[in-house]
Amino acid sequence: MRECLWTILRCPITKGALREMDVSEIKELNNRISKGELVHFDRILVKREITAAFVSINGQFVYPVEEGIVILLQNLAIVLDESGLDRTRCFENETKSVQDFYDQVGWQKEDGGLFVDALKFEDVRPVSKDYIHKCHLRVNRHLKPSGKYFLDVASGPIQYPEYLSYSTDFDVRICRAVAQIVLFSL
Ligand SMILES: C[S@@+](CC[C@H](N)C(=O)[O-])C[C@H]1O[C@@H](n2cnc3c(N)ncnc32)[C@H](O)[C@@H]1O
Repeated sequence: MRECLWTILRCPITKGALREMDVSEIKELNNRISKGELVHFDRILVKREITAAFVSINGQFVYPVEEGIVILLQNLAIVLDESGLDRTRCFENETKSVQDFYDQVGWQKEDGGLFVDALKFEDVRPVSKDYIHKCHLRVNRHLKPSGKYFLDVASGPIQYPEYLSYSTDFDVRICRAVAQIVLFSL
């Protein structure tokens, strides 16, 4: 699993390769975090210590691993080296507003178990339920049935269980939302 991650993971800022940090590097990093020396890319102070992480090959940015998920988020990258950093390009307005919408509104779950995004933009009437369910499953006809990696761009939180059927026979599903990239083994 680790070997395959190394070959496909890329730093979202430098676009270069990443490598896993070793125990002594994590210790040193946590030492700096506890002294309040480090900030994230969006300039927020790093507060939480980490247990595992990937670092860009040039040693500039660190991406923590939390609960087995590599947090490949530009604005949550921990900056080890500020040199040559062009912060003016860190967020385009449109991207930021889409991210804010999904973080604050779209991916909130309502009492009935549906997400606000679905309630706002999809047909969630009971009369459509069976048809929509079949539509979701029909997507399988157009996908490769199995393989190593399944890339789900703009995945959101995998809001319907049918979506999981798309990657049943893949080794790893890679989910990309504005706010995050998550990788998990299937
Ligand atoms: C309408 S939701 C669809 C979610 C999911 N694919 C589904 O069918 O339920 C749109 C998703 O696209 C993501 N998104 C929008 N712009 C994006 C971008 N430039 N890069 C990656 N994800 C993006 C949003 O964060 C949101 O999760």
